[in-house]
This record gives sequence, C-alpha cells and structure tokens, in this order.
Amino acid sequence: MNWKLAARAEKMNPSVIREILKVTERPGIISLAGGLPSPKTFPVKAFAEACAAVLHNDGEAALQYAASEGHAPLREAVAKMLPWKVDPDQVLITTGSQQGLDLIAKVLLDPGSRVLVETPTYLGALQAFSPMEPQAVSVASDAEGVISEDLAAKAEGARFAYLLPNFQNPTGRTMTEARRVAVIAAAKKAGLPIVEDNPYGELWFDEAPPLPLTARNPEGCIYLGSFSKVLAPGLRLGFMVAPKSIYPKLLQAKQAADLHSPIFNQRMVCEVMKDGFLERHVPTIRARYKGQRDAMVAALRREMKGLDVEFNVPAGGMFLWLRMPEGMDTVALLPKAVDRGVAFVPGLPFYAGEGDARTMRLSFVTASEEEIDKAIAALAGAVREQLAHVVAAKTEQLLAATP
Ligand SMILES: Cc1ncc(COP(=O)(O)O)c(C=O)c1O
Repeated sequence: MNWKLAARAEKMNPSVIREILKVTERPGIISLAGGLPSPKTFPVKAFAEACAAVLHNDGEAALQYAASEGHAPLREAVAKMLPWKVDPDQVLITTGSQQGLDLIAKVLLDPGSRVLVETPTYLGALQAFSPMEPQAVSVASDAEGVISEDLAAKAEGARFAYLLPNFQNPTGRTMTEARRVAVIAAAKKAGLPIVEDNPYGELWFDEAPPLPLTARNPEGCIYLGSFSKVLAPGLRLGFMVAPKSIYPKLLQAKQAADLHSPIFNQRMVCEVMKDGFLERHVPTIRARYKGQRDAMVAALRREMKGLDVEFNVPAGGMFLWLRMPEGMDTVALLPKAVDRGVAFVPGLPFYAGEGDARTMRLSFVTASEEEIDKAIAALAGAVREQLAHVVAAKTEQLLAATP
C-alpha cells in the first residue's frame, strides 16, 4: 500500500526526550531525565475510595458520554481554586494541559504564523504547535523570565506569546513580580495575546509565586492548568481558562478532538477533591520535592566543585538547569553519563532557535535522595572525563597553530 504522508506529518519528529527515556529504561541507570512526578505522591487510597463512591453513587452517568466543556462541578471547583475571579463558563476541561496546547495551536495558528516562545521553552509545546507549521520565535530570557523589551520588539503580527512564569520546564526559573508587570504592560500595549502554562505553580517550596499573568489581564490571556502534578498524570486531566470571545472556538476544536475528557476521571477527581483534599495533599508534595531539590543542590555543590558548572536553585517545581564549562556539549556527554549509570536531558531540544549546547535539564523528583547522590557523583565523573577531552583537543589545536 502506498501511504502518502501529509506535509505536516512529514514535519513531526519523535520526541527527543522519549528517545532518551528508552535508553534510561536500561537496568541500573538512574534517570534524572524524565519529567515524571514522583509516584510516591499519588494518592492511591483516596482514588480507590473515590472510584468506589463514583461507581456506587453515579455509576451510569460516570460511564456515559458527557459534555465537551467538562463536568460542571469540576469546572466550578477549578474556577474556585484560581486566585482571580473566574466564571466556570470560561473553564474547559482538557485531556491534560497538553491537549490545551494542541487546541490552542489548531484555533490560533496558520502556516507561517509567528508564535513567541521563551528561551528555552517546553519542548512539548513546540511539538504541539509544529503540525500547524508556525514560525516559533525565541524571545530573549534571563533568570527573571522572558525579557519584556524583546517581547515588545517581536510582538507585531505574532498570534500569541507562550509563557511559563512558574518553575519553568525546563529551567525551573520563576518570573519575578516586576517582570510580570512589565510583560503584561508590553503585551497590552502591543495587543499581543498570552498563553500562560502553569502546571507547576502549586509546587512551591518556601512561598507561593507571584499572581499569574492571566489574573492581571484575563481578557488578553488563555490560562492552562493541570491535575498531573498535584494528583496524578495518568488521569490525563487538565483545564483551560479562556476569554469568552475565544472559548467557543476552543470548544469546537475540543469536540472534534475527543468529544470530551474522560468523565469517569473527572468525577473521581471531584470526589477526591471534596473536603479540601488538595490543601492537605499538596503540602506533602512540596515537602518531598523540596527535600529532593536540597539533596540535588548539595550533591551538585559537592561533586561539581572546581568544574565551573553553573546551575540555579529552583524555588519550586521539578527541574534544575545546568550549564557546563566552555567547549562542552551535553549531547556528546550523554552517552558517557549513561555508561556511568546516569541519564539527563541535553538542553538543545528545548530551544526554538539557536540553542546553548552546554545546557542540560535535571529532574530532582523521580530519583530518591540516595540515588540523587550517586547520580550526581557519576555525572561529575562523566563531566571530568569529557572536560579532559575538551582540554586535550584545545591543546592540540593550539600546538598545531603554533609555527
Ligand atoms: C510546561 C508543561 N506544560 C504542559 C505539560 C503537559 O502536562 P499534562 O498534559 O500532563 O497536563 C507539561 C508536562 O510535563 C509541562 O511540563
């Protein structure tokens, strides 16, 4: 049979991360590569009870087709959870926030449309946008988030800016209050819509992050949230809050995509969340992840001493971002690290434009604290080995250039 692929399918690439994860499934490898929440945080017992209750109380409705907008009580609960005034009619329950990105791409992007993204940005968003064949434009970013002046300079004609203000994937950085004010002012002035992706916002360690961008300009933003990091990713439940002017189009795209998100799961989440469950549960995730972050930071300080490796100390979320010494390439480093029993994700796939080959993302939540210690020691060993090659190659070059 002669299968002729659509042009957009030709452009789809396997996720680099998934390919890397395959390597990390080898026995004996400690993976700091995946973006998986710790399974120890999954409230299995609460779900067992909720599952029985849903089947007992609403079994038939829970197994029937349902509304595309989502289960009304869940939409109401989401609206109540958010720190600005949200009408439940603006909430669209999605099959993970990843589906939100897909629906937004379908509704807002044409081939060649400009979409502004952070440097670096969430790889899964680039993947969700790419079938619509947009032009992803990198906006300069620093430790405080996206730089508002560069955002303003690139805003003209862009369909939207895709921003991750809290504990960003991949860098773990958080946009400061001042930067949020500046970004909203720049976006308002330019008439630039913002898509705010916030799956990690609840996972703060010492203090809650500043108010979301959407809270500051609800008419100019679409907000994406997720139950993946506060309950469990296997539920595949997320949500979108969209201005009323754009909501009907997103809903039509949702209907065409999957009719509705699993109603059984939506009802279970409602059941689990009743009586303020999240207020008791989420602090336990924060405490666990904070301990793991501390373990990784301590291990990095110990093992990378003298190596000129830069890294941040994220105030929440799941990821930490490293920058290797000059001349190093983390794609080349990866096989050496895997040989020593540790995996990470090289930074390059997270850049829409030219990337920094010296960067890598480490997750501190999937491995235990003992494993983190072992993994960082192994990684430091691989860095030393690679660095010796880099220095040797440089010396050779210098000698060759010396008359
Ligand atoms: C920034 C970001 N957005 C969206 C997602 C998708 O999450 P989900 O579809 O599980 O809600 C992820 C997953 O890791 C993410 O890191």
